[in-house]
Amino acid sequence: MKLTAKSVSRVALASTLVAATAGAVLLAASPAGAATTLGASAQQSGRYFGTAVAANKLSDSTYVGILNREFDMVTAENEMKIDATEPNQNQFSFGNADRIVNHAISQGKRVRGHTLAWYSQQPGWMQRMEGSALRQAMINHITQVASYYKGKIYAWDVVNEAFADGSSGGRRDSNLQRTGNDWIEVAFRTARAADPNAKLCYNDYNTDDWTHAKTQGVYRMVQDFKQRGVPIDCVGFQSHFNPQSPVPSNYQTTLQNFANLGVDVQITELDIEGSGSAQAQNYQRVTQACLAVARCAGITVWGIRDSDSWRSSGTPLLFDGSGNKKAAYTAVLDALNAGGTTTTSTTTTTGTTTSTTTTTTTTTTTTTTTSGPGGCTASASVNSWAEGFVATIRVTAGSTPLNGWTVTLTLPSGSTVTGSWNANRSGNTGTIQWTNVSYNGNVAAGQSTEFGFQGTGVGTGLSPTCSAR
Ligand code: G3I
Repeated sequence: MKLTAKSVSRVALASTLVAATAGAVLLAASPAGAATTLGASAQQSGRYFGTAVAANKLSDSTYVGILNREFDMVTAENEMKIDATEPNQNQFSFGNADRIVNHAISQGKRVRGHTLAWYSQQPGWMQRMEGSALRQAMINHITQVASYYKGKIYAWDVVNEAFADGSSGGRRDSNLQRTGNDWIEVAFRTARAADPNAKLCYNDYNTDDWTHAKTQGVYRMVQDFKQRGVPIDCVGFQSHFNPQSPVPSNYQTTLQNFANLGVDVQITELDIEGSGSAQAQNYQRVTQACLAVARCAGITVWGIRDSDSWRSSGTPLLFDGSGNKKAAYTAVLDALNAGGTTTTSTTTTTGTTTSTTTTTTTTTTTTTTTSGPGGCTASASVNSWAEGFVATIRVTAGSTPLNGWTVTLTLPSGSTVTGSWNANRSGNTGTIQWTNVSYNGNVAAGQSTEFGFQGTGVGTGLSPTCSAR
C-alpha cells in the first residue's frame, strides 16, 4: 500500500460541536469535552458508528462489553441473509437475527438490515431457481422479511453486490440478473411497500475509487433511479481495504458525488488490513472523508476484534484479539472528536419526479390520457421475458393535484398477475382496477408516482386508463 502523509486528504474540520446532539454527547464526554466512545463521538455530528455482529458471539462477555460500550448501530453479519431467514421456500427463520435485533434495541442501538436480495448466500432452493419463479420468490422474500422487521430497521441493504468487477461497468451475471434488468428496482419498490420508513440502500464493494468502471456503473444506476422516482435513499460503500485494494485518494470525491445525487452515503463494512500507524492513518482518512460529506450518515466496521473478522489474518479491525483498543481505534476516535459537517437526514418518498423513463430492456410503452376531476394519465412500461413480465405503471396528475387515483387495464388472455407493489388491485386476471395506497394517492399537479406488478404470460399491449378520485 503506497500511502504517504502527502496523499492523505486534507479535510476542513469544523471546530464546533453540534448542539442538536449535545445531550447524548455530554453523557459520554471526558473532562476535556471529547467523547470517549465511537458511537458518542460520531453522534456529535449527527452520525452513527456501527459494527457487524454475529449472533453466536453474544455470549462472549468481552465481545458484548465492547459492543455495548462503543457502537450505536448494528448490522447482522450473516443472520439476515437469505439463506438464514428463508432456509426453505416460504418457511422463515428469524431466531438468530432476532437475537441481534433485540440485543441492539434493548441497548438503544439502531439496526442496519443486511441484505434482502443478493446473488450470494442464497439457500439451495433459490440457487436452483430462474425466471419468473425466482422473481416472484425474491418479491415474496423481501416482502416477508422487511414486513417482519418493519419499524425496527434504520436502513436496509435492499440489493447487495449486483455490479460486475473489472472494466465493464455493467451488471454481474446471476440468476437474479437473468430475471430481467429491472430486478433491482423491483426489489427497491417491494421493500418500500413493506417498510415505508426504512432507508433503502444499494450496497457494494470496489466502488470506492471514483475512476473505476464499477463505481461509474453504480453511479449511473442511482442517477437513473433518482430521475425515475425509483425509491432509493442511500448507497452503501462496503470499503474492504487491503494492499491490493487500498483507500483511494479520491474516496471523499466518490462519497460526495454520490451524495450529490440526493442519496445518503454510508460506509457499511469497513475494514482495513494492516497494523500500527499505517493502518491508523488509513482509518483516519476514511473517517475524515465521511465527516467531510454532509450526507455521509455513518460508518460501520465489519466486526469488533481482529479475531472476529472474516479475514482475521489481516488484523483489519479496531480492537485486537484480546479486545484492546488499537492505534486505529484512537485515530478514528480522534477524527470523530475533531468534528465534521453536520449530516442531513431525509427520507425520500416514492415517485415524485417528472423525468422521462429510461428503458433498459425490451420495453413497450402505451400512454392513454383520460378525463377525471383533475385529469390524470397512465403509462405502462413492460419488461418481458420468456415466461413472464414486470410492468411499471406511471400515474401522472393533470393540471390539478390528485387526492386519489384509479387505473384500469386489461391483461391479455392467459396472463395472470402474481405480485404487485405500491397499489391495491381488484383481481389478477382480465380487467383489473388498481387504486392508490395510503402513501401515493396525493400527487401534485404535473407530478408522477409509480406502481408495478409482476405476471406470468404475456404483458404486452397494456393500455392503462387513469381517473382521479
Ligand atoms: O457457521 C458455520 C460453521 O458452523 C461451519 O463450521 C463453518 C465451516 O465453513 O462455516 C460457518 O459459516 C460461515 C459463516 O461465515 C459464519 O462464520 C460460512 O462458511 C462463511 O461463508 C460465512 O462467511 C461470511 C461471508 O460474508 C459469506 O459471503 C462472513 O462471515 C461475512 O463476514 C461475509 O460478509 C460479507 C458481506 O455479507 C457482504 N460483503 C462482503 C462481506 C465479506 O465477505
